[in-house]
Amino acid sequence: MSGDTPTVDDCPVSNDMPMLGLGTWENADPATCQESVATALEMGYRHVDTAQAYGNEQAVGKGIAAADVDREDVFLATKVWIDNLAYDDVIETTETSLQRLGVDSVDLMYVHWPSRTYDPEATLGALNELHDDGKIDRLGVSNFEPDQLREAIEISDVPIVANQVECHPLFQQAELREVCDAVGVDLVAYSPLARGDVLDVPELREIAGDHDASPAQVSLAWLRQQGVTAIPKATSEAHIRDNWQSLSVTLSDNEIDRIEAIDETGRRVDPGFGPWN
Ligand SMILES: NC(=O)c1ccc[n+]([C@@H]2O[C@H](COP(=O)([O-])OP(=O)(O)OC[C@H]3O[C@@H](n4cnc5c(N)ncnc54)[C@H](OP(=O)(O)O)[C@@H]3O)[C@@H](O)[C@H]2O)c1
Repeated sequence: MSGDTPTVDDCPVSNDMPMLGLGTWENADPATCQESVATALEMGYRHVDTAQAYGNEQAVGKGIAAADVDREDVFLATKVWIDNLAYDDVIETTETSLQRLGVDSVDLMYVHWPSRTYDPEATLGALNELHDDGKIDRLGVSNFEPDQLREAIEISDVPIVANQVECHPLFQQAELREVCDAVGVDLVAYSPLARGDVLDVPELREIAGDHDASPAQVSLAWLRQQGVTAIPKATSEAHIRDNWQSLSVTLSDNEIDRIEAIDETGRRVDPGFGPWN
């Protein structure tokens, strides 16, 4: 791996979305979160992922404002929480998210889970209205099963551009990746480091050693080479940089085969309201 820090142009973009972004779940201390976001943007990241439920939209917005990067160059995504998916609540809480983030619009608004108050017609109808009003540029879903994804595509006049789901070498989502490909929706991998568990996988450690890279970088390179966007959460500058440098790692076909042969150990994020439960 080259020791040089990749530039913005080294990060591939899929349907306007930079394929490596910064996750922020549990980066809840406002000062730390603001600094992580600003550090990432100044390093070259141009995609930041937050959610109403993370309690950090204000800090994310301050991080974007503090960085020496123009707002229009940042792809900002947030998510409507499962208690807010009734028509009026989608409209009202999106306005609140925009205020907290300090922006006029977000680049991508996700339905966080197809759960609790989710009603396909009402929820997607409200998001379509917000799109038409210029408050959200794109519409995405998260944690949607194949049938729910197809139904959402059918109902929404505005295209569904992404399905954000858990995906990493220990939970590879081969079938859902195929479904997303077939319907023309980007798969965005959350928990792309298996919440830290990829660091201990022998196959990833071996491949990492051969590239003078880290297991985290190997996981992120594997996702990128599958056409999957990844949003690793990192708090420290060292982790933010380590993940960004995954853009300099390219795996061989043989290494990709070895990763695909790893025994999968299942989901790390599995709440009772998950649609598969
Ligand atoms: N849509 C959804 O339902 C959903 C669910 C889960 C997550 N997400 C999104 O996906 C993002 C990422 O997922 P995640 O936060 O669950 O887990 P993750 O990104 O797989 O892992 C994060 C953990 O790995 C550590 N880490 C990061 N980079 C590292 C590196 N290079 N070397 C060693 N350790 C490293 C982080 O530590 P430090 O923090 O100390 O750097 C943190 O403990 C979230 O933050 C959120 O934005 C969405």
